[in-house]
Amino acid sequence: MRDKDDAPAGTIAGPSRRAVMKLAGASTLAAGAATPALAATADDASAALAFPRGFFWGGATSAYQIEGAWNEDGKGPSIWDRFTHMPGKIRNGDTGDTALDHYRRFKDDVQSIKALGIKTYRFSISWPRLFPDGAGEPNAKGLDFYDRLTDELLANGITPFATLYHWDLPQALQDRVGGWESRDTAEAFADYAGFVGEKLSDRIGHFITINEFSTFVDLGYGRGAHAPGLKLPLPRLNQVRHNALLGHGLAVAAPRAQAKSDIRIGLAENIAACVPVVETAEHAAAAEHATRELNAGCLTAILEGRYTNAFLASAGADAPKFTPEDMKTISAPIDFVGLNIYSPKYVRAVDAAPGYEVVAFANSHPRTASSWQYIGPEALYWGPRHVHKIWNVGAILISENGCGTSDMLAVDGTVYDTDRVMFLRANLSALQRATAEGIPVRGYLVWSLFDNFEWTDGYAVRFGVIHVDYPNLIRAPKLSASYYSEVIRRNAVV
Ligand code: FCB
Repeated sequence: MRDKDDAPAGTIAGPSRRAVMKLAGASTLAAGAATPALAATADDASAALAFPRGFFWGGATSAYQIEGAWNEDGKGPSIWDRFTHMPGKIRNGDTGDTALDHYRRFKDDVQSIKALGIKTYRFSISWPRLFPDGAGEPNAKGLDFYDRLTDELLANGITPFATLYHWDLPQALQDRVGGWESRDTAEAFADYAGFVGEKLSDRIGHFITINEFSTFVDLGYGRGAHAPGLKLPLPRLNQVRHNALLGHGLAVAAPRAQAKSDIRIGLAENIAACVPVVETAEHAAAAEHATRELNAGCLTAILEGRYTNAFLASAGADAPKFTPEDMKTISAPIDFVGLNIYSPKYVRAVDAAPGYEVVAFANSHPRTASSWQYIGPEALYWGPRHVHKIWNVGAILISENGCGTSDMLAVDGTVYDTDRVMFLRANLSALQRATAEGIPVRGYLVWSLFDNFEWTDGYAVRFGVIHVDYPNLIRAPKLSASYYSEVIRRNAVV
């Protein structure tokens, strides 16, 4: 076992190491100014797009999407096991029963990501693997898997970030108390989080409580499209959201209380990343205001410890029931804010209240193979900028960013995913703009390292920089993997 202080890249929210990069070669278009020299080589050009020293480069996955072994070694069923086994819920009837068989192949997978130069690996822990019944007796074999995975990562110089909840709630809790409809689930989540803190904090220094509150609440409990497949009326849905926030707050405290060493805890939210559709001060101010309001149900509540007046007014009688004590728990200080950013939300200033308007995407706005994804790299600049400015957040992690594609193997057996290379370059350029201005973005995790089970899209939409050939599960790096490796190696956009 190694001490986490030996971890290759330190901590994400350590003593402030503000590395504001100076843009090389900045010039002016004013008449008479010297013509800026063209970068002599591609190397000179990429040096201008460097990231701060110590930047955390990595990738993210989640348990249900890659592990498989859904009913092995004492694991209990999750709501995703139940949901995918219902006919008609998932494209092509796909399930995560086997997924990438990562549960068995994790050592090879660690080698594949090490070969890319990945320094940080965000994975999620399956709650029902550790607590098959949601609470009570832990399953030793489940913990053993994460023990071995963690040791393998550290032995290969990769810093682990562990997500505690990436949507695979123990089915037992859904059956017993209605899942996140009940505060009991928030409390059970804290117990499980405390257990993980106690057992793994000697080697894992970074934890993410919950992945994407708004997605699993709205899609799972509101629209019925994700597990557990419910369509609750608004008052109950808002209570689910509140209980999830409460679960987060309790799960910030519990691992800290049990941890064997100093750990960093944050969350990962897919914020509405508001981009001024035209970049002027007026529209930028509207986008900032919109960021606070459009995230009022989750991130704003966590970072401010209150629901905004506008949120409560619009919810009216459907607002969640909560106590001041709850809001204190929910807003427990966190060490970093993780942002999952896939698409922008374009916003412009308007005179009428609330002073902003979301601009709908044009019919021909560029999209990806994921039906919900619109392309807008500027979100990687404006998202972190607003979060830093509105809430004075001192450490931001891009906890997910990537694009859905429908890759094909070329005759030489490689996937030439030029679309993903273009996407990454554009997104990273916008992110570099943020770090160059001193916005405290500490790292970037690509979603995802491997193609995997993409929820309702099953295996039909691919997000990996490493291709997975189904059903033989052979992994092979795509063109984008070599692109991303080069970015990591140079710590700069190439
Ligand atoms: C995010 C999820 C992640 C993955 C990507 C494409 O919303 O957190 O599990 O499915 O989308």
